[in-house]
Amino acid sequence: MNISIIGSGYVGLVSGTCFAELGNKVICADNDAKKIAQLKKGNLPIYEPGLEELIKGNLKKGRLRFSTNIKEAVVNSEVIFIAVGTPPLDNGEADLTGIENVARNIAKILPGYRLIVEKSTVPVETGERVKDTIETYVKRKVKFDVASNPEFLREGTAINDFMHPDRIVIGVESKKARDTLVSLYQPLNVPIVVTNIKSAELIKHASNAFLATKISFINAVSRVCDKVGANVEEVAKGMGLDKRIGRAFLDAGIGYGGSCFPKDLDAFVTISENVGYDFELLKVARNVNEEQKRFYIKKIKDALWVLKDKNIGILGLSFKPNTDDIRSAPSLDIVKFLLQEGVKIRAYDPQAMPKFKNEINQVTFCKNSYEAAKQADCLLIITEWNEFKEIDFKRLKKQMRCALIIDGRNIYAPEVMCKLGFKYISIGRPSCK
Ligand code: UDX
Repeated sequence: MNISIIGSGYVGLVSGTCFAELGNKVICADNDAKKIAQLKKGNLPIYEPGLEELIKGNLKKGRLRFSTNIKEAVVNSEVIFIAVGTPPLDNGEADLTGIENVARNIAKILPGYRLIVEKSTVPVETGERVKDTIETYVKRKVKFDVASNPEFLREGTAINDFMHPDRIVIGVESKKARDTLVSLYQPLNVPIVVTNIKSAELIKHASNAFLATKISFINAVSRVCDKVGANVEEVAKGMGLDKRIGRAFLDAGIGYGGSCFPKDLDAFVTISENVGYDFELLKVARNVNEEQKRFYIKKIKDALWVLKDKNIGILGLSFKPNTDDIRSAPSLDIVKFLLQEGVKIRAYDPQAMPKFKNEINQVTFCKNSYEAAKQADCLLIITEWNEFKEIDFKRLKKQMRCALIIDGRNIYAPEVMCKLGFKYISIGRPSCK
């Protein structure tokens, strides 16, 4: 199929490239000329494992093109995906200026029937708005369909998530739109859930809100574990084996971050409020998440007593492993707090240091974990990158002033750390004596 993706951000790039890999002819468009020039050379604005190779391969095979020209994209495609950003406004609502703008531009160009698909995460009823907008601005009477096809890609595993999803969700209003999207996704050979547009839009928000709530739930349980000396990992294992619950997303830690969960929860709370429902459950899930960071900071204060002039090493800055993304990363709040208290920070992250530096630069950025641990009174684990799990503890300990680790991601076994001579504090698990 000939496809175009308007918006070459995270979702657009991954989706467009994967559609090309499946054998479609894809144009990824974006109005950021600098970004498109870079992409044409195969240079990526983001770090996502495997994406660069896939882009280069598909550019070579002529299945993938990048363009700043939305007209070229609309004219040459049967299906047009809208994947522009929907950043949060101050009141928590999603800013839909980008979506409206693209819908208007498509309308002005529309040369004949096209299927226009929302891929960005949008509030329920956006599909209707997109349809109205196109109807309003279309130059001559042309038929078109609007559909919703939310993405469920996780950063760091996005290509695999696209190629092997648990399900595809498509919200449609016509048989033609349904048949087109079903045949586009047929090669993936996975369940396809066909709904109306509003349900599809809601599936996305409800899924992310549920997952975020699941994390907040286990984080709340971890607080009780801490108080009574139980182990949250054992609790999660015991709960997770119940098929109705499942073990995934029951890792306690310093809370969720990233570009999706915090923003989507805010948006879902606001959407619900706007339609007359107070989604209190999600407000509490959000508070638990904020509180979890404060709780971690309290653990640091309890362990170090006076923070001023202490040396703290930090391992991990990205909001999760295998990404350089620091949007709503817990590291931002934690580092800001420590700097305010007069702490000297040395930090290391395999990918996220350049982006972090743009936000906060009063930190010494190091070339590896051992450098970050130099003369540290305490070492914090903020992101569970694999290389931290395989660390040489003897070498690490030699660098540190005090062998104290406060692990916000529970990546080490307390007994092992104890044997190695570390004072080791984690989340919802008893420290060894
Ligand atoms: C998420 C959704 O998973 C994806 O379907 C959606 O399209 C976009 O949002 P992403 O933000 O890339 O993807 O990250 P994800 O792997 O879901 O993790 C989100 C956050 O939750 C991270 O900060 C992670 O550290 C945290 N998390 C996850 C936990 O704290 N505990 C867990 O058990 C799982």
